[in-house]
Amino acid sequence: MTTPNHIPVLAGDVFQAFADLETPRIVDGTLGLGGHAAMLLDGIAGAEILGIDRDDTALREAAQRLLPYGDRVHLYRGPFSAMADFAAEEGWETVDGILLDLGVSSPQIDTPTRGFSYRFDGPLDMRMDRRLTETAATLLNTESEEELADIFYYYGEERQARRVARAVVRRREERPWARTAEFAELVEQVVGRPKHGPPPATRCFQALRIAVNDELGELDRALVTAVSLLAPGGRLAVISFHSLEDRIVKQFFRHEASPCVCPPDIPVCVCGKVPTLKPITRKPLVATAEERATNSRAASAKLRVAEKLPLPETGKPKSKTKPSR
Ligand SMILES: C[S@@+](CC[C@H](N)C(=O)[O-])C[C@H]1O[C@@H](n2cnc3c(N)ncnc32)[C@H](O)[C@@H]1O
Repeated sequence: MTTPNHIPVLAGDVFQAFADLETPRIVDGTLGLGGHAAMLLDGIAGAEILGIDRDDTALREAAQRLLPYGDRVHLYRGPFSAMADFAAEEGWETVDGILLDLGVSSPQIDTPTRGFSYRFDGPLDMRMDRRLTETAATLLNTESEEELADIFYYYGEERQARRVARAVVRRREERPWARTAEFAELVEQVVGRPKHGPPPATRCFQALRIAVNDELGELDRALVTAVSLLAPGGRLAVISFHSLEDRIVKQFFRHEASPCVCPPDIPVCVCGKVPTLKPITRKPLVATAEERATNSRAASAKLRVAEKLPLPETGKPKSKTKPSR
Protein backbone atom coordinates (compact mmCIF):
# COMPACT_ATOMS: atom_id res chain seq x y z
CA MET A 1 0.00 0.00 0.00
CA THR A 2 1.36 3.47 -0.88
CA THR A 3 1.66 5.94 1.97
CA PRO A 4 -0.95 8.67 1.68
CA ASN A 5 0.79 12.04 1.55
CA HIS A 6 -2.10 14.46 1.73
CA ILE A 7 -2.65 16.09 5.13
CA PRO A 8 -6.37 16.80 5.66
CA VAL A 9 -6.90 20.49 6.38
CA LEU A 10 -8.89 21.90 9.31
CA ALA A 11 -9.39 18.33 10.50
CA GLY A 12 -10.48 19.26 14.03
CA ASP A 13 -13.10 21.72 12.79
CA VAL A 14 -14.40 19.27 10.20
CA PHE A 15 -14.72 16.65 12.93
CA GLN A 16 -16.64 19.07 15.17
CA ALA A 17 -19.06 19.83 12.34
CA PHE A 18 -20.33 16.24 12.41
CA ALA A 19 -19.25 14.93 15.83
CA ASP A 20 -22.64 15.10 17.60
CA LEU A 21 -24.60 13.30 14.86
CA GLU A 22 -25.75 9.80 15.80
CA THR A 23 -24.61 6.96 13.54
CA PRO A 24 -24.58 9.43 10.66
CA ARG A 25 -24.54 8.74 6.96
CA ILE A 26 -22.02 11.19 5.58
CA VAL A 27 -21.23 12.00 1.96
CA ASP A 28 -17.56 12.87 1.49
CA GLY A 29 -17.81 14.40 -1.99
CA THR A 30 -14.07 14.98 -2.28
CA LEU A 31 -12.67 11.77 -0.87
CA GLY A 32 -9.09 12.37 -2.06
CA LEU A 33 -6.88 10.01 -0.11
CA GLY A 34 -9.58 9.50 2.51
CA GLY A 35 -7.94 11.50 5.30
CA HIS A 36 -11.09 13.28 6.49
CA ALA A 37 -13.14 10.14 5.88
CA ALA A 38 -10.86 7.97 8.05
CA MET A 39 -10.96 10.57 10.80
CA LEU A 40 -14.78 10.62 10.79
CA LEU A 41 -15.01 6.82 10.71
CA ASP A 42 -12.57 6.57 13.63
CA GLY A 43 -14.19 9.26 15.73
CA ILE A 44 -17.94 8.89 15.20
CA ALA A 45 -19.45 5.60 16.30
CA GLY A 46 -21.43 3.87 13.58
CA ALA A 47 -20.73 6.55 10.96
CA GLU A 48 -20.94 5.43 7.34
CA ILE A 49 -19.21 7.26 4.53
CA LEU A 50 -20.30 7.53 0.93
CA GLY A 51 -17.04 8.64 -0.65
CA ILE A 52 -16.93 10.26 -4.07
CA ASP A 53 -13.99 11.27 -6.22
CA ARG A 54 -13.68 11.74 -9.95
CA ASP A 55 -9.97 10.89 -9.90
CA ASP A 56 -9.44 7.15 -10.35
CA THR A 57 -5.98 7.22 -8.73
CA ALA A 58 -7.28 8.98 -5.62
CA LEU A 59 -10.20 6.62 -5.36
CA ARG A 60 -7.93 3.57 -5.62
CA GLU A 61 -5.66 4.86 -2.86
CA ALA A 62 -8.62 5.78 -0.66
CA ALA A 63 -10.15 2.34 -1.19
CA GLN A 64 -6.94 0.74 0.13
CA ARG A 65 -6.76 3.06 3.08
CA LEU A 66 -10.41 2.61 4.05
CA LEU A 67 -10.44 -1.19 3.67
CA PRO A 68 -10.33 -1.74 7.45
CA TYR A 69 -13.71 -0.02 7.80
CA GLY A 70 -15.44 -2.66 5.68
CA ASP A 71 -19.07 -2.04 4.79
CA ARG A 72 -19.14 1.32 6.56
CA VAL A 73 -17.59 2.73 3.36
CA HIS A 74 -19.27 3.05 -0.04
CA LEU A 75 -17.16 4.40 -2.89
CA TYR A 76 -18.19 6.04 -6.16
CA ARG A 77 -16.20 7.47 -9.03
CA GLY A 78 -17.77 10.57 -10.53
CA PRO A 79 -18.57 14.22 -9.91
CA PHE A 80 -19.84 15.25 -6.50
CA SER A 81 -22.78 17.02 -8.17
CA ALA A 82 -24.12 13.47 -8.74
CA MET A 83 -24.13 12.73 -4.98
CA ALA A 84 -27.92 12.24 -4.85
CA ASP A 85 -27.72 9.56 -7.58
CA PHE A 86 -24.94 7.73 -5.73
CA ALA A 87 -26.88 7.96 -2.45
CA ALA A 88 -29.95 6.56 -4.21
CA GLU A 89 -27.85 3.59 -5.38
CA GLU A 90 -27.21 2.85 -1.70
CA GLY A 91 -30.92 3.25 -0.96
CA TRP A 92 -30.21 6.43 1.04
CA GLU A 93 -33.04 8.95 0.56
CA THR A 94 -31.36 11.48 2.83
CA VAL A 95 -27.98 11.86 4.50
CA ASP A 96 -26.87 13.44 7.78
CA GLY A 97 -23.68 15.12 6.64
CA ILE A 98 -21.98 16.33 3.50
CA LEU A 99 -18.33 17.36 3.27
CA LEU A 100 -16.75 19.13 0.30
CA ASP A 101 -13.00 19.79 0.59
CA LEU A 102 -12.62 21.58 -2.72
CA GLY A 103 -9.78 21.76 -5.19
CA VAL A 104 -6.90 19.40 -5.79
CA SER A 105 -5.03 17.06 -3.48
CA SER A 106 -1.30 17.20 -2.81
CA PRO A 107 -0.56 14.07 -4.88
CA GLN A 108 -2.42 15.57 -7.85
CA ILE A 109 -0.50 18.84 -7.67
CA ASP A 110 2.83 17.13 -6.93
CA THR A 111 2.68 14.63 -9.80
CA PRO A 112 4.25 16.26 -12.88
CA THR A 113 2.42 14.01 -15.35
CA ARG A 114 -0.94 15.35 -14.11
CA GLY A 115 0.07 18.82 -15.34
CA PHE A 116 -1.55 20.79 -12.48
CA SER A 117 1.52 22.71 -11.36
CA TYR A 118 3.79 25.37 -12.87
CA ARG A 119 6.49 24.04 -10.53
CA PHE A 120 7.23 20.99 -12.70
CA ASP A 121 7.36 20.41 -16.42
CA GLY A 122 4.70 18.01 -17.63
CA PRO A 123 1.88 17.65 -20.12
CA LEU A 124 -0.71 20.44 -19.97
CA ASP A 125 -3.39 18.08 -18.70
CA MET A 126 -5.09 19.18 -15.42
CA ARG A 127 -8.03 16.77 -15.69
CA MET A 128 -9.18 15.37 -12.36
CA ASP A 129 -11.26 12.83 -14.28
CA ARG A 130 -9.08 11.44 -17.04
CA ARG A 131 -12.13 10.14 -18.91
CA LEU A 132 -12.79 13.74 -19.96
CA THR A 133 -11.48 14.52 -23.43
CA GLU A 134 -10.58 18.20 -22.99
CA THR A 135 -7.28 18.96 -21.29
CA ALA A 136 -5.66 22.30 -20.51
CA ALA A 137 -3.75 21.96 -23.80
CA THR A 138 -7.06 21.52 -25.65
CA LEU A 139 -8.33 24.80 -24.22
CA LEU A 140 -5.12 26.68 -25.02
CA ASN A 141 -5.08 25.28 -28.56
CA THR A 142 -8.74 25.69 -29.48
CA GLU A 143 -10.50 28.42 -27.47
CA SER A 144 -10.82 31.87 -29.02
CA GLU A 145 -8.66 34.72 -27.74
CA GLU A 146 -11.75 36.28 -26.07
CA GLU A 147 -12.71 33.05 -24.33
CA LEU A 148 -9.17 32.52 -23.07
CA ALA A 149 -9.05 36.08 -21.78
CA ASP A 150 -12.32 35.50 -19.91
CA ILE A 151 -10.96 32.28 -18.40
CA PHE A 152 -7.79 34.00 -17.16
CA TYR A 153 -9.72 37.04 -15.92
CA TYR A 154 -12.72 35.44 -14.25
CA TYR A 155 -11.17 32.20 -12.97
CA GLY A 156 -7.67 33.47 -12.29
CA GLU A 157 -8.39 37.12 -11.51
CA GLU A 158 -5.41 37.88 -13.78
CA ARG A 159 -5.46 41.58 -14.55
CA GLN A 160 -3.38 41.14 -17.68
CA ALA A 161 -5.71 38.43 -19.01
CA ARG A 162 -6.12 39.98 -22.46
CA ARG A 163 -2.38 40.25 -23.03
CA VAL A 164 -1.81 36.64 -21.90
CA ALA A 165 -4.62 35.40 -24.18
CA ARG A 166 -3.19 37.30 -27.15
CA ALA A 167 0.26 35.79 -26.55
CA VAL A 168 -1.22 32.27 -26.20
CA VAL A 169 -2.98 32.56 -29.56
CA ARG A 170 0.05 34.05 -31.31
CA ARG A 171 2.33 31.29 -29.99
CA ARG A 172 -0.03 28.46 -31.03
CA GLU A 173 0.11 29.64 -34.64
CA GLU A 174 3.74 28.44 -34.63
CA ARG A 175 3.26 25.19 -32.68
CA PRO A 176 0.51 23.78 -30.45
CA TRP A 177 0.63 24.05 -26.68
CA ALA A 178 1.79 20.88 -24.96
CA ARG A 179 3.91 21.48 -21.82
CA THR A 180 3.35 23.22 -18.49
CA ALA A 181 6.84 24.77 -18.44
CA GLU A 182 6.27 26.50 -21.80
CA PHE A 183 3.01 28.00 -20.60
CA ALA A 184 4.48 29.13 -17.25
CA GLU A 185 7.36 30.77 -19.13
CA LEU A 186 5.02 32.62 -21.48
CA VAL A 187 2.90 33.94 -18.60
CA GLU A 188 6.01 35.20 -16.86
CA GLN A 189 7.21 36.91 -20.06
CA VAL A 190 3.86 38.68 -20.46
CA VAL A 191 3.07 39.52 -16.83
CA GLY A 192 6.58 39.94 -15.48
CA ARG A 193 8.07 38.50 -12.33
CA PRO A 194 6.94 40.29 -9.14
CA LYS A 195 9.39 40.98 -6.31
CA HIS A 196 6.94 39.54 -3.78
CA GLY A 197 3.97 37.21 -3.83
CA PRO A 198 3.25 34.04 -5.75
CA PRO A 199 4.76 33.47 -9.21
CA PRO A 200 2.66 35.01 -11.99
CA ALA A 201 1.75 31.64 -13.48
CA THR A 202 -0.21 30.73 -10.31
CA ARG A 203 -3.29 32.65 -11.40
CA CYS A 204 -3.42 31.39 -14.99
CA PHE A 205 -2.80 27.78 -13.90
CA GLN A 206 -5.66 28.08 -11.40
CA ALA A 207 -7.87 29.53 -14.16
CA LEU A 208 -7.15 26.71 -16.60
CA ARG A 209 -7.71 24.07 -13.90
CA ILE A 210 -11.08 25.57 -12.96
CA ALA A 211 -12.12 25.68 -16.63
CA VAL A 212 -10.93 22.15 -17.47
CA ASN A 213 -12.81 20.66 -14.50
CA ASP A 214 -15.80 23.05 -14.52
CA GLU A 215 -15.08 23.50 -10.83
CA LEU A 216 -17.42 26.40 -10.15
CA GLY A 217 -20.30 24.84 -12.09
CA GLU A 218 -19.79 21.63 -10.11
CA LEU A 219 -19.89 23.58 -6.85
CA ASP A 220 -23.06 25.46 -7.81
CA ARG A 221 -24.87 22.24 -8.71
CA ALA A 222 -23.58 20.33 -5.69
CA LEU A 223 -24.74 22.96 -3.18
CA VAL A 224 -28.29 22.88 -4.54
CA THR A 225 -28.32 19.07 -4.49
CA ALA A 226 -26.82 18.98 -0.99
CA VAL A 227 -29.67 20.99 0.48
CA SER A 228 -32.32 18.60 -0.82
CA LEU A 229 -30.30 15.50 0.10
CA LEU A 230 -29.66 16.52 3.71
CA ALA A 231 -32.07 15.36 6.42
CA PRO A 232 -33.30 18.08 8.82
CA GLY A 233 -30.55 18.70 11.36
CA GLY A 234 -27.93 17.42 8.89
CA ARG A 235 -24.75 19.42 8.29
CA LEU A 236 -23.07 20.73 5.18
CA ALA A 237 -19.38 21.60 5.54
CA VAL A 238 -17.44 23.19 2.68
CA ILE A 239 -13.72 23.97 2.63
CA SER A 240 -12.71 26.44 -0.08
CA PHE A 241 -9.24 27.52 -1.14
CA HIS A 242 -9.76 30.72 -3.09
CA SER A 243 -12.11 33.68 -3.14
CA LEU A 244 -14.16 32.49 -6.13
CA GLU A 245 -15.18 29.32 -4.33
CA ASP A 246 -15.67 30.99 -0.97
CA ARG A 247 -17.89 33.69 -2.50
CA ILE A 248 -20.17 31.03 -4.01
CA VAL A 249 -20.47 29.18 -0.70
CA LYS A 250 -21.00 32.34 1.35
CA GLN A 251 -23.69 33.71 -0.98
CA PHE A 252 -25.42 30.33 -1.22
CA PHE A 253 -25.55 29.94 2.58
CA ARG A 254 -26.86 33.50 2.91
CA HIS A 255 -29.54 32.93 0.26
CA GLU A 256 -30.66 29.62 1.76
CA ALA A 257 -30.81 31.14 5.25
CA SER A 258 -32.95 34.06 4.18
CA PRO A 259 -36.69 33.75 4.80
CA CYS A 260 -37.84 35.87 1.89
CA VAL A 261 -36.52 37.41 -1.31
CA CYS A 262 -39.47 39.73 -2.02
CA PRO A 263 -38.68 43.40 -2.71
CA PRO A 264 -38.54 45.34 0.58
CA ASP A 265 -41.63 47.46 -0.20
CA ILE A 266 -44.03 44.48 -0.39
CA PRO A 267 -45.74 44.06 3.04
CA VAL A 268 -46.68 40.38 2.67
CA CYS A 269 -44.31 37.76 1.38
CA VAL A 270 -45.33 36.53 -2.07
CA CYS A 271 -42.14 34.68 -3.02
CA GLY A 272 -42.99 31.74 -0.77
CA LYS A 273 -39.33 31.16 -0.03
CA VAL A 274 -38.51 29.47 3.25
CA PRO A 275 -35.09 29.26 4.85
CA THR A 276 -33.51 25.85 4.35
CA LEU A 277 -30.12 26.31 6.04
CA LYS A 278 -28.89 27.82 9.28
CA PRO A 279 -25.23 28.83 9.03
CA ILE A 280 -23.31 27.50 12.02
CA THR A 281 -20.11 29.37 11.28
CA ARG A 282 -20.81 33.11 11.18
CA LYS A 283 -17.32 33.73 9.84
CA PRO A 284 -15.34 31.05 7.99
CA LEU A 285 -13.04 28.95 10.14
CA VAL A 286 -9.37 29.19 9.18
CA ALA A 287 -6.24 27.29 10.14
CA THR A 288 -4.22 28.09 13.24
CA ALA A 289 -0.67 29.36 12.86
CA GLU A 290 0.49 25.91 13.97
CA GLU A 291 -1.46 24.15 11.20
CA ARG A 292 -0.25 26.65 8.61
CA ALA A 293 3.32 25.99 9.67
CA THR A 294 2.99 22.25 9.06
CA ASN A 295 0.66 22.24 6.04
CA SER A 296 1.07 24.95 3.42
CA ARG A 297 -2.28 24.05 1.80
CA ALA A 298 -4.03 25.10 5.01
CA ALA A 299 -2.97 28.73 4.60
CA SER A 300 -5.81 29.60 2.23
CA ALA A 301 -8.42 27.13 3.54
CA LYS A 302 -11.78 28.46 4.75
CA LEU A 303 -14.43 26.22 6.27
CA ARG A 304 -18.11 27.15 6.35
CA VAL A 305 -20.70 24.92 8.00
CA ALA A 306 -24.49 25.10 7.86
CA GLU A 307 -27.32 22.97 9.25
CA LYS A 308 -30.40 21.88 7.33
CA LEU A 309 -33.55 23.34 8.85
CA PRO A 310 -36.75 21.34 9.25
CA LEU A 311 -39.34 21.94 6.56
CA PRO A 312 -41.93 24.45 7.83
CA GLU A 313 -45.58 23.54 8.10
CA THR A 314 -47.53 25.04 5.20
CA GLY A 315 -49.81 27.88 6.28
CA LYS A 316 -50.92 31.38 5.53
CA PRO A 317 -48.59 33.94 3.85
CA LYS A 318 -45.82 35.26 6.06
CA SER A 319 -46.13 38.82 7.24
CA LYS A 320 -42.91 40.72 6.66
CA THR A 321 -42.13 42.63 9.84
CA LYS A 322 -38.82 43.79 8.45
CA PRO A 323 -37.41 43.69 4.99
CA SER A 324 -34.97 40.87 4.45
CA ARG A 325 -32.53 42.99 2.47
C1 LIG B 1 -8.50 18.59 -1.45
S1 LIG B 1 -8.67 16.96 -2.07
C2 LIG B 1 -9.55 16.13 -0.80
C3 LIG B 1 -8.69 15.52 0.24
C4 LIG B 1 -9.44 14.69 1.26
N1 LIG B 1 -10.37 15.48 2.02
C5 LIG B 1 -8.48 14.00 2.20
O1 LIG B 1 -8.50 14.25 3.40
O2 LIG B 1 -7.68 13.18 1.71
C6 LIG B 1 -9.90 17.16 -3.26
C7 LIG B 1 -10.30 15.89 -3.97
O3 LIG B 1 -11.58 16.10 -4.52
C8 LIG B 1 -11.63 15.66 -5.85
N2 LIG B 1 -12.61 16.52 -6.52
C9 LIG B 1 -12.54 17.86 -6.72
N3 LIG B 1 -13.64 18.28 -7.33
C10 LIG B 1 -14.44 17.21 -7.50
C11 LIG B 1 -15.75 17.03 -8.05
N4 LIG B 1 -16.43 18.05 -8.57
N5 LIG B 1 -16.28 15.80 -8.03
C12 LIG B 1 -15.59 14.75 -7.49
N6 LIG B 1 -14.35 14.85 -6.99
C13 LIG B 1 -13.79 16.08 -6.97
C14 LIG B 1 -10.23 15.79 -6.37
O4 LIG B 1 -10.00 14.84 -7.40
C15 LIG B 1 -9.40 15.51 -5.12
O5 LIG B 1 -9.05 14.16 -5.04
